[in-house]
Amino acid sequence: MTSPHIPVMVQEVLYWLHPEEGNIYVDCTVGGGGHSKAILEKLKGKVKILGIDRDEEALKIARAELKRHARQIILRKGNFRDLSVILVEEGIEKVDGVLYDLGLSTIQLGNPGRGFSFRYDAPLDMRVDRGQFLTAAHLVKQLSAEELGDIFFRLGQERWAKRVAEFLVRERRVHPIETTSDLVKVIEKAIPARVRTGRKIHYATKIFQALRIQVNRELENIRESLICCFNLVRRKGRVCVISYHSLEDKIVKEEFRKRNGDGINILTKKVIKPSQEEIRKNPRARSAKLRSAEIR
Ligand SMILES: C[S@@+](CC[C@H](N)C(=O)[O-])C[C@H]1O[C@@H](n2cnc3c(N)ncnc32)[C@H](O)[C@@H]1O
Repeated sequence: MTSPHIPVMVQEVLYWLHPEEGNIYVDCTVGGGGHSKAILEKLKGKVKILGIDRDEEALKIARAELKRHARQIILRKGNFRDLSVILVEEGIEKVDGVLYDLGLSTIQLGNPGRGFSFRYDAPLDMRVDRGQFLTAAHLVKQLSAEELGDIFFRLGQERWAKRVAEFLVRERRVHPIETTSDLVKVIEKAIPARVRTGRKIHYATKIFQALRIQVNRELENIRESLICCFNLVRRKGRVCVISYHSLEDKIVKEEFRKRNGDGINILTKKVIKPSQEEIRKNPRARSAKLRSAEIR
């Protein structure tokens, strides 16, 4: 089983994480194993990696992808929010670097059954960790129009948030909103045709993004993990984060800046972006931003 996910900014990650022989690194979002594999190959296996992911399916693919390096990598299911506990459980006190490649992978987005994409009809699920109880369908069914509107506005930056939320609440009284198609139909009704057709992105993109972030508590996880991770990295070790939208990047920037000169040194004074060549080959890379800091 090979990973369908193309890892983003691999050369940049190798440069800014600067992995060295004999050291130990945490790949907090191992996904299909692309970045871990690049590190292992660069150092010819003379390195240890702890690879974490919330998604069982991703871990299965990573396990197959990294079979050759099975002795160098520990793969385990977990939320990077619990990084310090995971390290204690693995008997690791400090590491030499931590990598986060945020968001979702093609393993999830390209799976029609998981409800992340408005392009496929599927139950409104959107859980990265399928052991979690709460799904997007629960939110759409149970939250008030005010609560939904707030989520769509804050996490989707959708101008029509309030109207979509009101339409949803009205519509669900008539029939349940249980699938991606049910939701797309409501969004289509709520956002005026001239706005829908005038947008560069699909009119459902922002609402889907907002629900996904809320279901998986993505922003809280990033903040909590970054707050503890700097204490888990040895002096001169590095923390690298790739983010894919402004809400994620804002948190990374804030948490880095708060500690700059006092615990860490920010290495990427200007955010690092993928080359035009990479974006051409892998359009998913277009919104990626890499930040790196070194522990003082
Ligand atoms: C962009 S993908 C990583 C791809 C990976 N770097 C590669 O090269 O294949 C992001 C991964 O992070 C995982 N993830 C998202 N939130 C997480 C969290 N809070 N804890 C652990 N893993 C998480 C997702 O399941 C997904 O597999």
